[in-house]
Amino acid sequence: MHDIHFRPLTVDDVAEMSHIEHLSFSRPTSKEAYTNELVNNDRAFYYGLFDGEQLIAFGGYWLILDEGHVINIAVHPAYRRQGYGELLMRQVIVACMAQGAKKMTLEVRKHNTPAQYLYQKLGFIKSGIRPKYYDDPKDDAVIMWLDMLKMPSEGAE
Ligand SMILES: CC(C)(COP(=O)(O)OP(=O)(O)OC[C@H]1O[C@@H](n2cnc3c(N)ncnc32)[C@H](O)[C@@H]1OP(=O)(O)O)[C@@H](O)C(=O)NCCC(=O)NCCS
Repeated sequence: MHDIHFRPLTVDDVAEMSHIEHLSFSRPTSKEAYTNELVNNDRAFYYGLFDGEQLIAFGGYWLILDEGHVINIAVHPAYRRQGYGELLMRQVIVACMAQGAKKMTLEVRKHNTPAQYLYQKLGFIKSGIRPKYYDDPKDDAVIMWLDMLKMPSEGAE
C-alpha cells in the first residue's frame, strides 16, 4: 500500500536526492551542488514525491522572471513506469504557475526517449537543438517549451 504525498524539498532531503540522482544519471549532480541550490539560490525550487517517508521522485526549476527553467527530474528506478514522473511534473508545473510563470522550458538528451515522451504528454513542444551539449555519452540537447497559457484548465468544457 503506497502513501504518496508531494512537498517542497529542504537540505534535510539532499542525501535521498543524491541517492536517486546517482541511480539516474551518468554525471550526477553532487550533494554540495544541491545543498547550495537549496540554501543559497532563492530562484531555485525543488519538490519531491514521497511514499511514506521515502523520497521516490524529485524535480526542480529556477524561476526567472515569468519562465520556469526545469533543472532536473528523476524517479527512483523501482518506482518508474507507474505514473509518478507524470504526477510529479504536473505538481511542479502547478507550483511554478502559482508563482506567476507563464512558460516552462527544459533541455533533454536527444536519446532520452522516456523523458521526451513524458514532456510531450504534458504539452511541451520541441523548439530547437543544442548540438553535442551532453557528455558521457555525447548527445545533443533537445530544447522544449511549455506555454502554460495554452494549457487546458481542469474541468474546462
Ligand atoms: C523520465 C522519467 C522521469 C519518467 O518517469 P516515470 O515515473 O517512469 O514516468 P511515468 O510512469 O509517469 O510515465 C509518464 C509518461 O512518460 C512516458 N514514459 C515514461 N517512461 C517511458 C518509457 N520507458 N518509454 C516510453 N515512454 C515513457 C510515457 O509517455 C508515459 O505515459 P504513458 O504511461 O501514458 O505511456 C524516468 O524514466 C527517470 O527518472 N529517468 C531517469 C532520469 C531522467 O532521464 N530524467 C529526465 C532528465 S531531462
